[in-house]
Amino acid sequence: MVTIVDRNIRPEVEVVTPPVARGDFVVPRPGTGAAAKKFGVLPMPKLEWNAEVERETAHLYEKVKHIIPSVEWPFHAPYVYAINKLKKQRNAVLLAHNYQTPEIYNCVADFVGDSLQLAKEAAKSKADIIIQGGVHFMAETSKLLNPDKTVLIPDLRAGCSLAQSITGEDVRLLRERYPGVPVVTYVNTSADVKAESDICCTSSNAVQVVESFGVDRVICIPDEFLARWVATQTKVKIIAWKGHCEVHERFTGEELRRYREADPGVQILAHPECPPDVIAEADFTGSTSGILNYVKTKKPKRVVMVTECSMADNVQAEAPDTEFVRPCNLCPHMKRITLPKILDSLVYLREEVEIDPAIAAKARRAVERMIHLKS
Ligand code: 13P
Ligand code: SF4
Repeated sequence: MVTIVDRNIRPEVEVVTPPVARGDFVVPRPGTGAAAKKFGVLPMPKLEWNAEVERETAHLYEKVKHIIPSVEWPFHAPYVYAINKLKKQRNAVLLAHNYQTPEIYNCVADFVGDSLQLAKEAAKSKADIIIQGGVHFMAETSKLLNPDKTVLIPDLRAGCSLAQSITGEDVRLLRERYPGVPVVTYVNTSADVKAESDICCTSSNAVQVVESFGVDRVICIPDEFLARWVATQTKVKIIAWKGHCEVHERFTGEELRRYREADPGVQILAHPECPPDVIAEADFTGSTSGILNYVKTKKPKRVVMVTECSMADNVQAEAPDTEFVRPCNLCPHMKRITLPKILDSLVYLREEVEIDPAIAAKARRAVERMIHLKS
């Protein structure tokens, strides 16, 4: 049971700051080429817009015609056609996060969803090859759950400011500072950080995970704002970390108040990675799938979606009667994944995601504990 604490009572949250300023993203190690040796590299298919491509992709264009102009479709369609053929040939699946662009989300993905749903799909996968339409921590999670499969990410530089904000060493220091306090780590972290944690969580199950220990104090890292939001939903005292999502931290309560003033009936839906003053203005706070479900079930007339840009594009297809106001912030990491790079992944079997087996064994335990938590 989640205890909802009155909004006016300030939740008790202690926030820890990283010891040193963080440098640039460290580009993860490239794959060893083992997959290319195992499955073989294929010739690059011809990418032309012709009658066959037009006919075979027409049903997919129907799904995106509200967002992709017809003059642009001949540029996407040859990739869509080639990717869908090669996925069958390779026995590969593409898992796409809700922030992927509409042509990826609607036209080449086999499964779409939030971080938790993608992790669960990865755990069930029967494919030989998993391609992650998302960022590096998501691909690492897929690899943790499928150590014997080939997991590819179309661009190794698709990072995440939250994953970059903390290291395994930081978690060890936190444990020294708060001995015996359980560590809940957001999936938006490296395998190294997961390996030092008791359990993982996502934005859709964070409260449940925090309460699963039955103790009065939990370390919930690295997203300060997610932790602050969790603290408003539970009596458990939260120790947080000063990591932020570079996309969600830019929204402000002030801009949302202006939307509300312009249209008092508008519904404001926010992701828990947003700052507290943004969440205070929201009618609903939830994961990307929580937001999608809210729109599908409540069918609001007009919504402000306080999250990454592609969400509104993707939800629009499933909620044609809802009007979306788009205070749009792009995730530059999610946007590194494109159709041409997905095709390269399928042809050349790159970039392979590798995790040190000793770290993987510990990190897998934290992810599996989350997946097997009874809801
Ligand atoms: P969800 O788990 O809600 O999909 O969030 C993942 C993410 O990276 C949001 O920025
Ligand atoms: Fe990371 Fe934010 Fe991008 Fe999500 S939107 S992947 S949390 S940087």
